[in-house]
Amino acid sequence: MDGAMNYDVSEVLIEDALVPEGELVAIDFPFGGETLALLARRRDEELQVWHNVCPHAGRRLDYAPGRFLVSEGKLVCAAHGAQFSLEDGRCIDGPGRGGVLAGIAASRVAGGWRLVLGRP
Ligand code: FES
Repeated sequence: MDGAMNYDVSEVLIEDALVPEGELVAIDFPFGGETLALLARRRDEELQVWHNVCPHAGRRLDYAPGRFLVSEGKLVCAAHGAQFSLEDGRCIDGPGRGGVLAGIAASRVAGGWRLVLGRP
């Protein structure tokens, strides 16, 4: 993947250019022999990162790689229409209501963000 460098099996650096302000970005990493699918959104000096996995039935949230449905400020799962708050990742309507997207902590470093990868 362009814009990301592996540091070890669990930490990666995301360059600022990979996460433009306000956009939802899909980021897939090889991890433990599989692909770890993430969803990131940069807001001001914060980077929100979640697993790109719907808590309803475990499907990816994007309808095509890196393409997300957003309706009235809510992220809509492409599979069955669950709606998630972009503030905190909580499912606020549709199947899986009450669930929450699994988050990943991101910390600011020079020119980007450091993520510690793990599975939900
Ligand atoms: S898998 Fe997302 S709503 Fe069913």
